[in-house]
Amino acid sequence: MRKAGLVTGQILAALRDYAEPGRTPKELDALAARMLAEAGAVSSFKGYGSTLNLPPYPAVTCISVNDVVVHGIPHSKPLEEGDLVSIDFGAVLDGWNGDSAITFSVGNPEPEREALSQATEKAMWDGIAAAAVGKRLGDVGHAIQSSIKRSDRRYSIVRDFTGHGIGHEMHEDPDVPNYGRPGKGIRIVDGLTIAIEPIITLGSSWLIEDPDEWTMRTKRGGPAAHWEHTIAITKQGLWVLTALDGGKEELGKRGILVNDLAERLE
Ligand code: MF3
Ligand code: CO
Repeated sequence: MRKAGLVTGQILAALRDYAEPGRTPKELDALAARMLAEAGAVSSFKGYGSTLNLPPYPAVTCISVNDVVVHGIPHSKPLEEGDLVSIDFGAVLDGWNGDSAITFSVGNPEPEREALSQATEKAMWDGIAAAAVGKRLGDVGHAIQSSIKRSDRRYSIVRDFTGHGIGHEMHEDPDVPNYGRPGKGIRIVDGLTIAIEPIITLGSSWLIEDPDEWTMRTKRGGPAAHWEHTIAITKQGLWVLTALDGGKEELGKRGILVNDLAERLE
C-alpha cells in the first residue's frame, strides 16, 4: 500500500505545483490521468458509483473550488487568484489503493479561506496522531473535532461524509467519523489501514447537490476545505502512506513515532 500511497501523494504534489490562476480543473485532471498511466497505476475514481446507482464518476480527480465542498467534477472555468481549491485523488497500484486530498489557495491567498484550509489540515494530523493500536475510532474523531473547535468557532464539521477503511477497495469498513467520544467506537487493531479525511466549512455545513449528482456545495455559499491521508496503524507505530515523508515531520512535532518499517523500506 505504500507504493500506491506514494504514487497518490506524488501526483497530488505535481497537481498543486501546476495549479495557478488561468489553469482549469480539466487541465489538472488531464495531468493526473497522464501521470497515473506513466506510473502504471489506474484511477479508483473514474467510473466509480455505477454500483451505487449514481452516474459513473467522469474524471480521475475531484476538484472542488470555494463553495464546492467535495466531489467537484473538473470543469473548464479557469482558476482565479485567491480561489480555495481542494483536490481529492486516488490511485490503484498492484491492486492496492491510495486515497488523499489537499486544499490550497491559488495565487495570492485570501486570508479567511487559507486559515480554514490550515485548520483542516491540522485537524487531520491531530486525528492521525490520535490513532494507535488499542485505541478506538472515537478517539480519532474526538481529536479532529476538538482540534476544529479550538481553531475557530465559526467552523463546522461536515457530517454527511466520513473517512473509511481502505485496502484492495477504496472504500472498506469501518467508517471513520470526524467527530466522536473518547474511548468509544471501533477498537483499532494492528495493521488497520484507514483514510482520515476531515471536511470543514466556514459557517453552516448544510449542503446542496448539483444536478450532476456529484458536486456538493455549501447551501449558504461559504468556503470549504478537505484534507485526507491514507494511514497504516501498527504496533510499531503509524505510517502515513500517502505522505511523501511517511508522516515523519508532522507526527514528529507531536512526539509520535513513525513505524520504522518505513525507514527500512525507503
Ligand atoms: N476519494 C473520495 C473519498 O475520499 C471519494 C471520491 S468519490 C469518486 O472517499 F467518485 F470520485 F470516486
Ligand atoms: Co477517502
